[in-house]
This record gives sequence, C-alpha cells and structure tokens, in this order.
Amino acid sequence: MPPLKSRYLVTAALPYANGRAHVGHIAGCYLPADTFVRFLRLTGREAVFICGSDENGAPITFAALKEGVSPQDIVNRYHQILKTSFAGLGIDFSFYGETHAPAHDDATQKFFLKLLAGNYVQKRTVEQVYCRECQMFLPDRYIEGLCPFCGKSGARGDQCEACGRPTDATKLGEPECKVCPQQGRSGKNCVEVRASDHWFLQLNSSETAVRQYLDAHPEWRAAVKHFSYGLLDEGLRERCITRDLTWGVPVPLDGAAGKVLYVWFDAPIGYITFSQQYFAERGQPDGWRDFWQNADTGLVHFIGKDNTVFHSVMFPAMLMAHGGYRLPDTVVANEFLNLERDKISTSRQHAVWVDEYLTQFAPDSLRYYLTTIAPENHDSDFSWTGFQTRHNGELADNLGNFIQRNLAFCQKYFDGAVPAATASEAGQKLLAKIAAAKNAAAEKIGEHCYRDALDEVMMLSRAGNEFFSAETPWKTRTAEPEKCAATILTCVQTVEALSVLMAPFLPFSAAKLRATLNLPALQDGDWNAPGQIKGGHLINAPEVLFPKIDDAAITAAKERSGVRPV
Ligand code: 2FM
Ligand code: ZN
Repeated sequence: MPPLKSRYLVTAALPYANGRAHVGHIAGCYLPADTFVRFLRLTGREAVFICGSDENGAPITFAALKEGVSPQDIVNRYHQILKTSFAGLGIDFSFYGETHAPAHDDATQKFFLKLLAGNYVQKRTVEQVYCRECQMFLPDRYIEGLCPFCGKSGARGDQCEACGRPTDATKLGEPECKVCPQQGRSGKNCVEVRASDHWFLQLNSSETAVRQYLDAHPEWRAAVKHFSYGLLDEGLRERCITRDLTWGVPVPLDGAAGKVLYVWFDAPIGYITFSQQYFAERGQPDGWRDFWQNADTGLVHFIGKDNTVFHSVMFPAMLMAHGGYRLPDTVVANEFLNLERDKISTSRQHAVWVDEYLTQFAPDSLRYYLTTIAPENHDSDFSWTGFQTRHNGELADNLGNFIQRNLAFCQKYFDGAVPAATASEAGQKLLAKIAAAKNAAAEKIGEHCYRDALDEVMMLSRAGNEFFSAETPWKTRTAEPEKCAATILTCVQTVEALSVLMAPFLPFSAAKLRATLNLPALQDGDWNAPGQIKGGHLINAPEVLFPKIDDAAITAAKERSGVRPV
C-alpha cells in the first residue's frame, strides 16, 4: 500500500434522491468514507469530503410517476431526508450538493461537448420501445412480454427471470408497458418499436489506457480489480450515454429536444462540480484545481460494489478522454449488507432506515456495529440481536466500562483530581500499548481495513480493563495508596488516548468523553499529540457513555424494520 498523501479529496457515491438512506448504504459507503476523512484530519492531513444527491434520470422520473407527483417533489423530499440522516449519523461532508442544478447541467454539458468534439462520443440511430399512452420511450425494465428464448410470459426488457437470459426489449413477444398500470391503464397494445437518435461513449477506444491505469494500481481491493479486468478481457463496447427523458441534463445539441444525458454520465461529474461549488462558496474559485488537477493530492472514491464499473472503468475513461484531470488513486468498493440473512429491499420494506433508527438509538452504536460487520471483502449480515450483543457486550462492557470505572473511581476517591504518581512497570507496559495501537490502527485505515482498525481500539481498552482488574485499586486505595494513585493515573491517561483513537469511529462519544475529561475538543493533527493529563488535572463527573440496550427496544426495532419475530 503506498503511504498516505498529505491532502485528499474523498468522495462517497451520490445517493439517488428517490428514497431514504438505510444501513446498507451506510455500511457500504458513507461510514468508511467518513471514518477515513476523520482519520486524515486527525493525523494532520487536509481532506475535502464530497457527496450530494443524485437527482437526475430514470430513477427519479419513475419514482415520481409511481407516486403521481413531479420529479422535483421527489427530489426536494428525499434530498432533505438524506441530508438529515447523514448529519444525524455524523457523516460530515464538506459539501453535500444536488445534481439537479444549473451549474451542474452546465459543467456536464461542456464535458459532453468536449468528448463529442474529440470523437469520444458518437451518434447512432437505434430502435427502442415506445408507449403511445405514456408518450415516451420505456426503459427496458418497464417492458414485459414473452421471452424470445424460453417463451415464458413476464420476461422484462432487460432480463427474463424464468430462464435468466438477458433479453432485447424490442424482441419480446406481446410486449406490455409497465408504467401504464401505475397510471390506471392496462399497458396492453400500446407499445411499438420506434427509431431514436442516441449518443454513445466510445469506451472501446479507451481500453488500453484503462488497462494501463488498472495495472498501475495493484494495491486496489481484489474484487474491484478482478471485476474490472474481467470487463476489459471481454472487451469494452461503446455505451449509450443519452436517454429519451425530460428530467435530467438536456443533451446540448440542436435536434436533441426531449433527450437528456444518462444519469451515470452526469453523476460522477457531480464530484467535480460539487468540488467547484464548495471552493467557490469559500471564495476560492480555483481551489478545486489542487484536488482535480494535481496528482500530489489523493483522490479516493467510496462506493458500493454495484457501482464499480462506473468508477473503475467508465469515469476514468471519461476523465482521460476529456483530459486535464488527474485520475482517482483508489476506488474502495464494499460488498453488500444483508438484513437478518435476507437481501435489504426497499420495495418490501425490509430495511433499517437511518432516520427511523435515530429516533430510537444513538448514532455511535450504529457506527460501531456497522464497522464491526463492515462488508469489506464479502457480504455481511445486520441482525438486531447482533447489534444488541455487540453494543452491550463490547461498547458498554469493554470500552464504556473501562472509561466509566476509572473516571468514577477518580471522581469518588480523588475528588476528580487525577492523582500524581509514577507509573508502575505494568502501567508502563499499558502506556506503551497506546503508541502501538495508534500505529496499528493507522496502518489498517491506510489499507481501508476499518474492521481491523477498530479492533485495535477495542484491544487497547481490553488491555486497560485487564490492568485495572489486576491492579485492584479498590483494595490498594487504603493499603497501598501510592500504588492506587499510579493505577488511576495510568488508566485515565489511557482513557485520554482512547478519546483520540476512537474519534474517527465514534465521534459523538469521543467528543463527550473529551468534555468529561475536561480536555479541549480534538483539533486536526491531534492524533499524535502527547497526552495532556498529568497529576492534578481535574476531570468532570462522568456519565455512562454507552447505556445498555434492552430487549424491548430490540423487539420494537425489529418490527419497524420488517423483521418478523421468530
Ligand atoms: O447507485 C446509486 O445510488 C447511484 N446514485 C450512485 C452514483 S455514484 C456517482 F457516480 F455519482
Ligand atoms: Zn405506457
């Protein structure tokens, strides 16, 4: 793994503004990205963290059609919900933008025109399925009919569920429109094949360049490399980057009325336009250039695995074709998170929604649990029982207990004044573990292994608990007061170190702990700052950081997330 750079632009996949955020989104992309950014800043690096709502194209259009409202209504509603959910979990973007914005349209159109001028985009006339009732061309998944291969009914225009084969929407027998029924019409006898002009990205001409780019990054996650090389080995084909829709970035050409750019063309450009907006709002209109045009700056994309092709192949190819931009250093793609061993499904309401979660539990409890089960190398499973067990058994009984028993002891028997003493040999061993834990956690975060990094924090806390128990300060308090003082000093100093180490993972609890320790809030660069707590330092009365979660709360949460009691 190459060493970390001193400045980063970190992006998290732009969520579609057509639904609420759920735990799958958070575990797959936003939480590791936020943890990384917090770590970068805490270690004195500069980091700009960019995200925003993906508001264009078919996903929004069809959500609006389904509800009988305008796309703008959908976008307005979900942009706010998404923003609030992220903030509630402490996912702290530098800038959270919207792709349905004039500045983004303008930048995307210029990008498109440059690729067109360079012949990286070419026009073709293609046949597509059109619904006379809806008066629009239908996306493939909104057409159903008889499968041309197995003859079964109900085959979609993109795939036949019965035989699993990919289909061609124009070749289905007895095709029906699936948008019509949402509007109260039958959808029968209203579709036909019509010719339509579209523009295609010439990915084929970028094949060698993309391969060289991947070859230069042997350190990427195996799954991302495997998937991307697989695509290259099959051969890249031109890809249609326009759609017959009215909601999105209009194709900026004469004769292209009613056509917009494909949402997967404009969304990644959003990373650039949001960076430009961020710096413009800070009065530095050229500030974005240091992040997009300077290879000394790191550029890291966090995504879910279903977004891999767009970030490891298509967006780099677009950037290369355009010229003038540096390429991403890393694409951190995560696998999927299931819920109670079943796929998370928004249509079946089988999900844990962030806004709902936050009405019941603390943000750090979810951040903790999702990091411990992060789907880094394979799919993983969220279970409410697992959430409760991890919270009660690890956050409360390990980390929370170590903090609480020391601070309460110091408060009760030393009136909150950390005793002056000289650390014992065992104490020095514990203090030596602080630097080791920091180094190990830093290394793991540099490798984007957040589960392992969090383990280092918990191991330090466990070592602290073992030390406290072995030293028996409740006994030495009267018999050997100096030993007791040394124990408490060492433990409170370890608690101080934990307040730093845990901060990228558990920012709310770290901030509370700093206040209890009567220490200033963490500043950028504090990761390696020497401890401030010495004999005589006054702490405040501690409060339990991680109160236990009882069974009743878990039962209620299960019901709300569509998990039937067993
Ligand atoms: O899968 C999704 O939710 C997409 N909206 C992600 C877009 S990521 C990017 F390229 F902007
Ligand atoms: Zn129709």
